[in-house]
Amino acid sequence: MPRQPEPCYQDLRTREGSRTSLDISNGWERVIVLANRAPFTHERTRDGRVGLKRSASGLVTALEPLVEACSGIWVAHGAGNADTACVDDRGGLEVPPANPQYRLRYVWLPDHEHRGYYYGFANEGLWPLCHAVHVQPVFRSTDFRMYQLANARFAAAVGEEAASTSPLILVQDYHFALAPRMLRSRIPSSTVVAFWHIPWPYPRVFKVCPWSEDVLDGLLGSDIVGFQTPEDCVNFLDTVESTLPAHVDRQQSMVTFRGHSTQVRAYPVGVEWANPFVRATPAAKACRARVCRDLQLPAGVRVGVGIDRLDYTKGINEKFLAIERLLEIHPALRGRFVFVQVAEPSRECLPAYRATRATLVATAERVNRRFGNDICRPIVLREAHHEPADVYRLYRAADLCYVGSLHDGMNLVAKEYVCARDDERGVLVLSRFAGAAQQLGAALEVNPYAIDESANVLARALCMSEAEQSSRMRLMRHAVETFDTYWWANQLLDDALAVNSEGHTLAHGDTSAERKSA
Ligand code: F6P
Repeated sequence: MPRQPEPCYQDLRTREGSRTSLDISNGWERVIVLANRAPFTHERTRDGRVGLKRSASGLVTALEPLVEACSGIWVAHGAGNADTACVDDRGGLEVPPANPQYRLRYVWLPDHEHRGYYYGFANEGLWPLCHAVHVQPVFRSTDFRMYQLANARFAAAVGEEAASTSPLILVQDYHFALAPRMLRSRIPSSTVVAFWHIPWPYPRVFKVCPWSEDVLDGLLGSDIVGFQTPEDCVNFLDTVESTLPAHVDRQQSMVTFRGHSTQVRAYPVGVEWANPFVRATPAAKACRARVCRDLQLPAGVRVGVGIDRLDYTKGINEKFLAIERLLEIHPALRGRFVFVQVAEPSRECLPAYRATRATLVATAERVNRRFGNDICRPIVLREAHHEPADVYRLYRAADLCYVGSLHDGMNLVAKEYVCARDDERGVLVLSRFAGAAQQLGAALEVNPYAIDESANVLARALCMSEAEQSSRMRLMRHAVETFDTYWWANQLLDDALAVNSEGHTLAHGDTSAERKSA
């Protein structure tokens, strides 16, 4: 029986009419996304009311327009404290509730299974393993067992949602490395595409994982495995070749293993251009006034912004060190430059995240003690979830956005900032270790580990002429608009269709993804 306690929904993305450029007339009976993170969770507040919370995730930013356009199904973990109270008898609901576009199906896991699968194998094992950030991965047999169980549980939910169709299943990220093989045997008529949002490391690094063969075997159940960059593809092919008795065809970028062929391709993920949040955000001047008022910043102050999950891969502490250095070498900026860092709490029960938080909080306090006064502190650290309206206001208000990832698959904050700046103002300072740097050559590039260099780049950003800001922003806006999320989705869907229709392999260099992003 459907349980609908009449929650007080806030419609987060009301849309009118058809607004996509996604060509979905290619005949997929059903499109199902499998991703751990749900775009929405239901949270019950103290007064007993239920509200929708939008997840802060690059993956959600990229995938949601696609699922909406396909009227598809999103299968995800039910992490909200009121999710169970808002679903039908199959654990799902149509979302957004005020203007339904697609079906969201939750899967719930017992606590110990969630701990082992999500916090354990996925986030203490694969996450640090794949990011070159010098945090030692932790691999426990019990975690891997939970990861297997959770992957099977999610695959079963996808099977239920597929009913008797021949669906296209888009498996997302490192939480579900085993699911493609499971789906292939559960739904033989399906086409399975796995997209790995984070980097893929060198073979020697990947083999640290005691279950590297299982992970590869699981992924090679897919028809296509997609990565963010060509370098990730090469690392993956090298890893397969040196780990499994598989045939690796470099010319075709294809692996044949256990009688099945898998294409390996780069599809750099994008954002929705001119998305509803951009349209709903006031002009830069109004945003600036509101931010200065809310944060009690002195008039005329220069504003920098950073938007990240609180994660050691994001280089937040290194950003603070660069700001400290900036203020040491440019005393004139003291009291005249404020950096607003949004750090959304993330994976707080893991020791590495708690240590990262302690370090960056201590650094912020030190910098503020050294260079702040009663009127102006150089670092404003906001450790809280921020809704898109708040994030886009900050983007529009800021003189610069600093993306300092120590290693990142893509980093969509960089692209969102560019989307938000339709006034062609503002400077993007971008780590060369984020996948986005390969597409946004007009950003000011930094090595976030090099603190002096980063301080100098920040200084350069702050004195960049309006003409230079504008010409750089125009180039970046062209790239972000061209390679938006629909472009990404169209490449994936087209390639999936090509693989599916004659069972044929894509000719080398055939994918528009590779051609256009070159
Ligand atoms: O970077 C890949 C990614 O899946 C992002 O989309 C997301 O922000 C993050 O990793 C996962 O975060 P979480 O564990 O909070 O879903």
